[in-house]
Amino acid sequence: MKSRIIGTGSYLPEHIRTNYDLEKMVDTSHDWIVARTGIEERRIAADSQCTSDLATIAAQRALDMAGVAADDIDLIIMGTITGDYPWPATACVVQANLGANKAFAYDVSAACSGFLFALSSANDFLMSGRGKRALVIGAEIFSRAIDWTDRNTCVLFGDGAGAVLLEAQEGDSGVLSCHLHSDGKYLELLYQPGFGSRNPASIEGIEAKLPFLKMQGNEVFKVAVRSLTQVSKEALTANGYTSADVAQFIPHQANLRILEATTKRLGLTKEQSFINVHKYGNTSGATIPIALDEAYHQGLLKEGDLILSAAFGGGFTWASTLIRW
Ligand code: UT7
Repeated sequence: MKSRIIGTGSYLPEHIRTNYDLEKMVDTSHDWIVARTGIEERRIAADSQCTSDLATIAAQRALDMAGVAADDIDLIIMGTITGDYPWPATACVVQANLGANKAFAYDVSAACSGFLFALSSANDFLMSGRGKRALVIGAEIFSRAIDWTDRNTCVLFGDGAGAVLLEAQEGDSGVLSCHLHSDGKYLELLYQPGFGSRNPASIEGIEAKLPFLKMQGNEVFKVAVRSLTQVSKEALTANGYTSADVAQFIPHQANLRILEATTKRLGLTKEQSFINVHKYGNTSGATIPIALDEAYHQGLLKEGDLILSAAFGGGFTWASTLIRW
C-alpha cells in the first residue's frame, strides 16, 4: 500500500502587490528585491478573508479533481502558522466548511516545513490503516504576521493555500518516504515573539511589535541551503536514487538564490526544478502544495515520475519527501 496523491488544488488571493507597490511603502526597490530574492510580486488576502477561507477553496479544488466527496475524507491535517485563531486548529474550521463530517482534523506548526510535516503524519495514518483518504493542506495569510514598515522582511512573504488529497492504494505510485528534522537552538533566527506564554498579550508588546515575524535573514539563508541539500540527498539515498532520476524537484519557495544554490549542490538542472517564487513570494507552509498543483496542471507531473520535494523553516525545521507520481 502507498499514499497516492489523487487530487491537488490551490488558491491565491486575487490582489497582487508588486515590488513597485512596496517602493511606496518602505525604502526598497524592485531591482533590489529581484536581485536578492527573485520575487516580483505576491498575493495579499482581502480584509474579509481568513486563512480557513483560502484553505477551504484549495481543499475543495483538490476534492473536485479527485471526484471525492467531503464525507469520504477520514482526516485533515493542515500546516499553518497563521491560522484563524491561536486555537482551536484552523483544520477544524476547514472541516466544518467542507462538511467533512467523519474526518478528524488538526494543525501542524512547523513553519515553512508545515506542509511536509503534515504530509508525513497523514502518510503514517494511512499506512497504519487508520483511514483511507487524507486531506493535507498548507495555507497562510502571512501578510498579517509581518511588519509592513520593516523592509528586511515585508518584501519576502505572501498569502496563499494549497492542498492534496491522499488515498491509500495498492501499487508502486505514492509517497515513498518522508524525512523530518528539527533543531530548536536556532529558534530566535526566525520566529514570532508574541503573543504566547513567553510573551503574553500586552499593550507594550504591541508597541514593541512582538506579534510580527523576526528574522536574521542572512543567517537563515546559510542554514537553509545546507539543510535543503542534506535532506534532499537523504531522500534520494534512502530510496536508492540519484538526482538524475528526479523528474521534478518541488522545493519550498523562499528565495530564488536559495533554490538556485540548492539545485546546483544537488546537481539538478533548471528543467528539473519547479520555481514560482517570482509570482507569489514566500507563502510559508503553502508554497509546496501550490507548486505541486501548478506543476501538475502544467503537465510537468506524469504517471510514474519521481518527484522530490524539500522544505526549510522556523524552528528550525526541515523535511523532504520522495513521491512516485
Ligand atoms: O522560508 C524560510 C524563511 N526565510 C528565508 O528563507 C529567508 C532567508 N534569507 C534571505 O532570503 C536573505 O537573507 C534576504 C533576502 C532576507 C536578505 O538578503 P541578503 O543578501 O542576506 O541581504 P542582507 O540581509 O545581508 O542585507 C544587505 C543590505 C543591508 O544593508 P547594509 O547593512 O548592507 O547597508 C540591508 O539593510 O540590504 C539591506 N536591505 C534592503 N535594501 C533594500 C535589506 N532589505 C532590503 C530591502 N530593500 N527590502
